[in-house]
Order: sequence, then C-alpha cells, then structure tokens
Amino acid sequence: MAAQPRIGVVGATGAVGTVTLGLLAERGYEHVRAFASARSAGSRLPYGDDELTVEEASESALGAGDVDLFLFSVGTSASRALVPVASAAGAICVDKSSAYRLADGYPLVVPEVNGGRALESLARDRIVANPNCCTIPLTCVLKPLHEEAGLTRVRVSTYQSVSGAGAQRMSALAEEPQSDHDVLMDWSWEGDESDEESKLRAETRKILELPDLPISATCVRVPVMVGHSEAVWVELERPLSPADATELLRDAPGLRVLEIPEFPTSGAAAGRDDVLVGRIRPDRAVEHGLALFLSCDNLRKGAALNAIQIAELLLDGVAARV
Ligand SMILES: NC(=O)c1ccc[n+]([C@@H]2O[C@H](COP(=O)([O-])OP(=O)(O)OC[C@H]3O[C@@H](n4cnc5c(N)ncnc54)[C@H](OP(=O)(O)O)[C@@H]3O)[C@@H](O)[C@H]2O)c1
Repeated sequence: MAAQPRIGVVGATGAVGTVTLGLLAERGYEHVRAFASARSAGSRLPYGDDELTVEEASESALGAGDVDLFLFSVGTSASRALVPVASAAGAICVDKSSAYRLADGYPLVVPEVNGGRALESLARDRIVANPNCCTIPLTCVLKPLHEEAGLTRVRVSTYQSVSGAGAQRMSALAEEPQSDHDVLMDWSWEGDESDEESKLRAETRKILELPDLPISATCVRVPVMVGHSEAVWVELERPLSPADATELLRDAPGLRVLEIPEFPTSGAAAGRDDVLVGRIRPDRAVEHGLALFLSCDNLRKGAALNAIQIAELLLDGVAARV
C-alpha cells in the first residue's frame, strides 16, 4: 500500500459523502477520488482548496484494483451490488448502509466501543459495517455504564434530524414553510415498530455483545437540519449514582459531559466530533435507574467520522502486518 492510501468516497455527492470529503481533506489525505451515480458523473466537488471530478461508481471503476480504501455512503441496494466488487479487487471497504450491519461474520464497529473487532475483517474480505447514526452515540454512552454497573434494560426515545434522511430531504426542509414543520415517523414499518427502532435494538446488542439486552426505542424525526438527540433510560444491576456516572462518562472516549445549566442539543452537537451527554439524573421510576440525554452530529460521528476512524484502524492494522 502507498504511504498515503488511495481512497475512494462512494456516494460523494450525498449528505454523508460531502462531510466525508471535508473530514478527509482536514486530515490531509491527498489521494482521494469521488464516486456517485451516473447522474452526477463529471460534476465537481470541493476538496480542501482543490476540486474533485465525480466519477461514476461503476463495477469496472470500483473493481479496477487501484484504490486501497473505499468509504461507501450509498443506499443498501447499491452497497450490496458494489461493495463485493471493491472487496474482491483487494480494497478495504467501510460501508454505512444496512447491507452488512447485522450479517454474520461482518464486524459492526464503533471504534471507542469495539474497535478491535474491525481488525478481524483483515483475515476475511476487509468489509466493515458502520452502525446507524443513533446506535453510534448510544453505544458510546452505554459501554462505560455497562462495564461499571451492568446494564439490565435500556429505553430510548430519539429526536432525529432531517439530514439523517439524506441531501434531498435537507433541501425539502429548507424550502418547506415553517407552518408545515412537524414531527414524523418516516421509516418503514415492521408490524408495530419502525425499522429504525428495530435496527437500534439489534445493532446495539451486536456492538455491546449483549444479545439478550432488553431495549426498546421510539424513533422520531424532528424538523432540525443536523444533529440527532436521544433521551435514554437505563436500568443497572448495581447502584450507580449520577455523580459517579458523570465522572465515568467524563473519562470515556468520544464524549463531552455537560452539567446543568448546560445540556446537550442537536444544534450544539452539529459540526462537532464528540457526543454531548447531559441531564444525568436518577430515573425515579425504577431501582438502580439513570436517565440522561445525548446529542450527536449524525453526519460526523453518526456516519462519516466514525467510518474514517474505522478505516484508520484498518489502515494501521494493514501497515502493522507488512
Ligand atoms: N445521513 C445520515 O445521517 C446517515 C447516517 C448513517 C448512515 N447513513 C447511510 O449512508 C448512506 C447515504 O446516506 P446519505 O444521507 O448521504 O444519502 P444521500 O444524501 O441521499 O446520498 C446518496 C449518495 O449515494 C449516491 N448513489 C445513490 N445510488 C447510487 C448508485 N446506484 N450508485 C452509486 N452511487 C449512488 C448518490 O449519488 P447521486 O448524487 O449521483 O444520486 C449520493 O451521492 C445510506 O445508506 C444511509 O442509510 C446516513
């Protein structure tokens, strides 16, 4: 592999792809190519002080073997078609769709929580899945609480921004009269749950390696452009005071704890890398319960940044093997 990896961003014109390009440029990566659908081929995207010409993400382009790492942020069906082609050509693939997240044998990784799992992919097909944008901040908070006091039950209610549904929905919100703004549940339904709610449960269980953890979610879209927030209630095996939980989360990687009169908001999280956590207090409805609130930039730590952090673990892992 070249000293500087050759990186392909697939879905570069999208909400996550444009943030991915910004983060790669900030980190000084020089050999970056932008891919999207045939619709966008030939268009130009900013990259640092420069520009990239968007290429069509065809099977022949992705299978050419001249890219070390692909960061995919296309839909699930496009990922199912394109990721295997890129992987067969020898590239590391970090995929942000649902295609591989719950599939057996594919690591689903939040570097602060289970980063070591990413390296397992190097002995296989080098494909790693990036979790859902609500799962990532939730597991960053749950992991230290579980290690200290044992999780027995989790309930979560989300307040998810419109950018979580992609670039077209962001434009639609910008153009929509304020009087039309509403809270929505705009996911697919699986019986009485949305697929977002069942994803949040299944992905959290997989990442924490707690396959039977009782977890129930209500996912809600709110008319906010960027930044997902979550109200979280945890029940624990052992008592943990809010003060001790605050100290624990203060020391945990990737988190920034806020104390009253400060509290997390989607607006405050937008544009930041860390997950904001606050309102840490007893859950007065249960024994050994805590309630808290978190906010996270869904396009950065909820998607693009987490994927780049996974990729950097893998690139270091490859370098260590050489
Ligand atoms: N938004 C978030 O907060 C978030 C968080 C975590 C994960 N994700 C996941 O990331 C993926 C992208 O999300 P997004 O919000 O960035 O969506 P988006 O704004 O709609 O962007 C989709 C991107 O995929 C490209 N694309 C679509 N079909 C393609 C195809 N057949 N071949 C190649 N490229 C294709 C589009 O290219 P054109 O512009 O040419 O159409 C565009 O660049 C989804 O799987 C989503 O679930 C999103």
